[in-house]
Amino acid sequence: MAMTGVLRPGHVQIRVLDLDEGVRHYRDVMGMEETGRDEQGRVYLKCWDEIDHASVVLRQADRAGLDFIGFKVLNVKTLNQLEADLKEYGVKTERIPAREMLETGERVRFVVASGHTIELYAEKAPHGNGCGGVNPTPWSPQSERGIAPRRLDHALLYGPNIEEVRKLFVDVLGFTLVEHILTPDGKANQVIFLSCSIKSHDIAFGEFPEPGKLHHCSFLMDSWDHVLRAGDIMSMHKVPVDIGPTRHGVTRGCTIYAFDPSGNRFETFKEDRTPYPDHAPLTWTFDGLVGEGGLDYVQRKLHETFLTVVS
Ligand SMILES: [Fe+2]
Repeated sequence: MAMTGVLRPGHVQIRVLDLDEGVRHYRDVMGMEETGRDEQGRVYLKCWDEIDHASVVLRQADRAGLDFIGFKVLNVKTLNQLEADLKEYGVKTERIPAREMLETGERVRFVVASGHTIELYAEKAPHGNGCGGVNPTPWSPQSERGIAPRRLDHALLYGPNIEEVRKLFVDVLGFTLVEHILTPDGKANQVIFLSCSIKSHDIAFGEFPEPGKLHHCSFLMDSWDHVLRAGDIMSMHKVPVDIGPTRHGVTRGCTIYAFDPSGNRFETFKEDRTPYPDHAPLTWTFDGLVGEGGLDYVQRKLHETFLTVVS
């Protein structure tokens, strides 16, 4: 499959209540590398195997949550085309100037019907993963630090009107619906899992009355062993764990959900599927989310927090 168009979620800007606490969590517990601070006081971090300058930007604010999620697209031509496509679809877009975020080119910003701010961008300066570009090493010292996820993997966002959001991501941005969880009456989607690659999801949306909420940002681990080790490190640092370690039936992902010091949920996640765009989406009934282990395949139980706690 040729990767064109939208490539991947490239950055999230997360609001934290206390910047120092937030940095301690993402840098020292998660083990991400701090790559910069800007004039606004924002802190930039990257996971060890990411090439680009930063994937997590922390901004101190009075309330936790997500400012925006940005997707990297193939090149500037693609960015311009996608912006034109969005406008033609009736979406209002805004250009954020280059270097408003450190080492990042111009971004196209828009708000979707769930109330979330989405960005597209084509350019971000490479920082490297410490392995080198010629005769590279398989890992670097940074890959042994803290929880050490490989990359920012996806986010689950909660808000209203997710059917409208699904249409926009599929019809305009070229995503595929990979899996979906139906509402209790089976007539609509409760959660949708959308991919622009062969990942089980690059972004997911859950139907929720309040707009613009963050359910979790997810970070990719190498293996189930690394997910379990992440749990050990969370316990050592008294990080509040929400669910896991376990496996989701939905996406088959091995997972732990936990909270950063500001109450933003994050996930340490091991991908376990490679869906291609020609595969039919997998369907979960609302009852199956619990009774068939969609949420927690091992315990097959309801974790009330999954449906209600957001930031
Ligand atoms: Fe997730």
